[in-house]
Amino acid sequence: MYSQSTVIAGGLAHIPVVIGVFSFIQKFFSKRASNFPQDTELKKSPVKPVEQKAASKPAPVAKAENKAVVKKKHADVPVNIYRPKTPYEGTVIENYSLLKEGAIGRVNHITFDLKDSDPFLNYVEGQSIGIMPAGEDANGKPHKLRLYSIASTRHGDDFNGNTVSLCVRQLQYEKDGETINGVCSTYLCDIKPGDKVKITGPVGKEMLLPDEEDANIVMLATGTGIAPMRAYLRRMFEPTEKEKNKWNFKGKAWLFMGAPKSANLLYEEDLQRYLEDYPDNFKYTKAISREQQNTKGGRMYIQDRVLESANELFNMIENEKTHIYLCGLKGMEPGIDEAMSRAAEEKGLNWSELRPQLKKAGRWHVETY
Ligand code: FAD
Ligand code: A2P
Repeated sequence: MYSQSTVIAGGLAHIPVVIGVFSFIQKFFSKRASNFPQDTELKKSPVKPVEQKAASKPAPVAKAENKAVVKKKHADVPVNIYRPKTPYEGTVIENYSLLKEGAIGRVNHITFDLKDSDPFLNYVEGQSIGIMPAGEDANGKPHKLRLYSIASTRHGDDFNGNTVSLCVRQLQYEKDGETINGVCSTYLCDIKPGDKVKITGPVGKEMLLPDEEDANIVMLATGTGIAPMRAYLRRMFEPTEKEKNKWNFKGKAWLFMGAPKSANLLYEEDLQRYLEDYPDNFKYTKAISREQQNTKGGRMYIQDRVLESANELFNMIENEKTHIYLCGLKGMEPGIDEAMSRAAEEKGLNWSELRPQLKKAGRWHVETY
């Protein structure tokens, strides 16, 4: 027989054991997370570009994976390794302008060192990280974090797997005759190599690439919306990255890029190189709004380019291996939707029925801000 006090004393004596078990479980899972960034696909086939055959007959779009399968498939993608209460302090490695002379505004490519993070801050292409700008808001509280799409692959720009890069436009607007600078985007565009920056995340599963090497990837980007697309294209076409990831992309990648001026086109040299190296796998269509005009005499936007290519685009969409990614200005969404409706109509399809089917099949990916 045990007295009540013996039972209580016995229970208390077990607390360290319980804490020990929990701490073991926590360590086990954070170790697993830090092992994630390595690619698991290790196929031996040599890289050989093949032309993607146009779908000869429309395939039903709703047939693909249901939502539950899509969710299960992404269960191992790392999220929230660092949260706002305990961010990782990453060191800035480089911060340089992506714009050419005569461009509008300020857009920078910024790289942070992650190697001292413990647990390791790993991520995959298509995710975002949070940045907590230094200083306080008008109420004396620390600034809230802002999200930025990751512009590097999981192997980083130097392929060593311990950096993350962003593509940041400084927000600037006029109010009551005064120029207002966005808090976080200005902080990021001004930081110098060696500075420490509070980083959270990674977050996001909306913009992940499919695993299939013969998937087709249609990308609709405005401005810094190119960030995740840059990571995808490096994964597909950058020689050293391909050696690392062993992902032998065989599909068709089609980038529609919207920029105000030619001088504002981002990562242009890399994209031109991919076009030369992979003419059968990469297509690049630009809408340079302030230098080109649409058929109505207005600014050329990516939705105008989508309409011009309606037939070819919808042939691709009817193939269930095709995924569409939208990233950049929130304002482009209605225009893209309208263009897709008109383009679908030309093919005798109904976009308002088709889009939810694509979404359900995990083939319609949107991240606008
Ligand atoms: P803030 O100081 O927070 O100012 C923004 C506020 O200013 C707005 O909320 C609005 O109230 C006001 N404002 C803005 N424009 C005007 C105007 N014209 N007139 C009047 N008021 C105005 N940004 C990138 O540069 N690159 C990325 O890759 C990127 N990825 C993102 C990914 C996601 C998932 C999300 C949600 C956002 C992303 N952003 C990206 C946007 C980014 O998070 C910030 O919102 C952006 O940098 C502005 O933050 P800020 O602190 O500079 O501006
Ligand atoms: P514009 O500003 O000439 O109207 P950035 O982020 O570098 O400014 O680039 C964004 C690009 O997207 C610009 O070319 C901009 O054109 C264009 N854009 C602006 N509004 C829309 C919209 N509603 N739909 C599509 N593109 C847009």
